[in-house]
Amino acid sequence: MAAVIIDGKQTAAELRARIAKECTALRRSGVLPGLCVVVVGDDPASAVYVRNKHRACEEAGIYSEIISLPAVTTQQALCTLIRQLNEAPQIHGILVQLPLPPQINPSAVIAVIDPRKDVDCFHAQNVGLLYLGTPRFSPCTPAGVIALLEEYGIAIAGKECVVLGRSNIVGKPLAAMLLARDGTVSICHSKTQGLREICARADILISAVGHAGFVRGDMIKPGAAVIDVGINRGADGKLCGDVVFSEALARAGHLTPVPGGVGPMTIAMLLQNTLTAAKLLSGAF
Ligand code: GUN
Repeated sequence: MAAVIIDGKQTAAELRARIAKECTALRRSGVLPGLCVVVVGDDPASAVYVRNKHRACEEAGIYSEIISLPAVTTQQALCTLIRQLNEAPQIHGILVQLPLPPQINPSAVIAVIDPRKDVDCFHAQNVGLLYLGTPRFSPCTPAGVIALLEEYGIAIAGKECVVLGRSNIVGKPLAAMLLARDGTVSICHSKTQGLREICARADILISAVGHAGFVRGDMIKPGAAVIDVGINRGADGKLCGDVVFSEALARAGHLTPVPGGVGPMTIAMLLQNTLTAAKLLSGAF
């Protein structure tokens, strides 16, 4: 039987509608949630992401500011701007779009963001809270993955969860979130030996590698949930994930498409974190 296709677009739309309602309630109590996205340079992919974030904010009733800085911006200038945003009362969430130009150290910049406004959940304090199981925010893409599993009734507790990729943005925090939900978690990476065998025992297989065609059908346990976080351009120029979709469709129990799977959830979770930050900072909790 073919896998159930997980509809991230629909799930994200429902989530955004719920967030919009909460934003309305918060506005009525005198707080307009506000997000500032800072972009340095002119990476074309970043420009698309930032536009989408801005539009989603407007639709949800969140005030959104985009600050675009030239590619030659110094680390010091960027940090000065962030310190100003830390003090800006109309801004509850600060997001510095990655990647940054080579003269800027992303860790140094993230460290300057007020952790209460860190809607990416990249600051060491928020990463620590997440690992301790007492999160302030949840990182957007991993939170989107967990929300999809929950929406489709896919149990995590006691299950073999295999995460492909160990980035700070996806792989590491996702592993921590699966562990917090009692999954048995393996993180695989470029040095992992016996990768195919590890993948083939996964009840939940999540790929965040960034290589089109990386996950083949024979790496999937029949009936497994396969979540594709990859965003790549295939040989035909079309957007595709890490998973060979046709092969996975024949083996998996659940499968996310690209586009229309995890991607829309990431933005919905950013709105959720901005709302959470606005409530936290205004004492509305
Ligand atoms: N670039 C690609 N994904 C992300 C993300 O989730 N947050 C930020 N800040 N930059 C990104």
